[in-house]
Amino acid sequence: MPRIAVVGAGYWGPNLVRNFQGHKDCTELWVCDQSKARLDQMRTRFPGLKYTESYDEVLKSNVDGVVLATPVSTHYELARRALERGKHVFVEKPLASSAEHAKDLVSRAEAAKRTLMVGHTFLYSPPVLKVKDLIAKGELGRIFFVTTMRVNLGLHQKDVSVIWDLAPHDFSILFYWLGERPSVITATGKAFVVSGIHDVAFISAEFPSGTIAHLEVSWLAPSKLRRTAIVGDKKMAVYDDTEAIEKVKIFDRGVDFKDPETFGEFQLSYRTGDIWSPKLAQSEPLALEAGDFLKAISDGTTPKSDGLMGLRVVEALAAAQKSLEQGGVPIKL
Ligand SMILES: NC(=O)c1ccc[n+]([C@@H]2O[C@H](COP(=O)([O-])OP(=O)(O)OC[C@H]3O[C@@H](n4cnc5c(N)ncnc54)[C@H](O)[C@@H]3O)[C@@H](O)[C@H]2O)c1
Repeated sequence: MPRIAVVGAGYWGPNLVRNFQGHKDCTELWVCDQSKARLDQMRTRFPGLKYTESYDEVLKSNVDGVVLATPVSTHYELARRALERGKHVFVEKPLASSAEHAKDLVSRAEAAKRTLMVGHTFLYSPPVLKVKDLIAKGELGRIFFVTTMRVNLGLHQKDVSVIWDLAPHDFSILFYWLGERPSVITATGKAFVVSGIHDVAFISAEFPSGTIAHLEVSWLAPSKLRRTAIVGDKKMAVYDDTEAIEKVKIFDRGVDFKDPETFGEFQLSYRTGDIWSPKLAQSEPLALEAGDFLKAISDGTTPKSDGLMGLRVVEALAAAQKSLEQGGVPIKL
């Protein structure tokens, strides 16, 4: 039964603490934050756990797995040190702030035979799982394109652009759904509020199968939108994470192309059939994510959101950031 330490108890860390604390397979839970004030707040909220301000103490302890919910710029260093001490590591998204660092962590984890997992929470989210199922069963047919909007009047990050903050969600979802990684990425964007930190970006991705995708991510928007449209040659679907109940809707809509057998004109017939919303499981993604990490530590299984997924996402983020900084030139992966 694994012993776990959650490191970083700022905005996101407490959610992870709550889910590991509530999991039957987690025998012992530590919370580590270099800020005493944060630790004091956590002690009041979650009594009975082990608390420390020192990451060294965590590394020297007998905890089996370290969960990093610290700022992105610290991920590589903290994860590398944990792997060196033989710990299994869960890193919040994105895995690292460069593809080189992400690659290095993946090879270190492989060499040390330790689990490296990345907090791509949406891979455990019931609507995302439902869309994956629809695509895998061929319900939507061949996927022509996907468009996503992840915008809000959001919290500006100090150390990364909006691409590194929000696009990990959309890239991880896309790679999971499509089962492939992009061959070309282009992006444009601007840093309107804080110089040098882009707060809006428009990203395009092309996949080897011919599917294309467009991602809009922004911390500057009048309202919160979390909307993804998936257009296939059989059906279309919309996944709207801001909807309370009907988060996924399937539209029996499309255009059928009739090739003329002679030299006549081609014909298009438009289908506008039923719209339905499938029933979704009620599970909390973070609880499933915590369970996947605990299981990987106990049984040696590969978590769904593994280091390789983390690396693929970081490669895509780096390509998008590079394209944006070079005025939107296409970057091959
Ligand atoms: N999966 C998701 O949906 C999701 C959502 C939000 C944030 N995140 C990710 O979570 C991570 C943390 O983001 P946040 O918004 O909570 O950041 P934050 O700045 O609010 O919190 C980070 C905490 O880490 C602590 N810390 C920093 N270095 C440390 C060290 N060496 N040892 C111990 N403690 C240290 C800080 O004191 C702080 O309390 C980021 O990677 C972010 O991308 C994920």
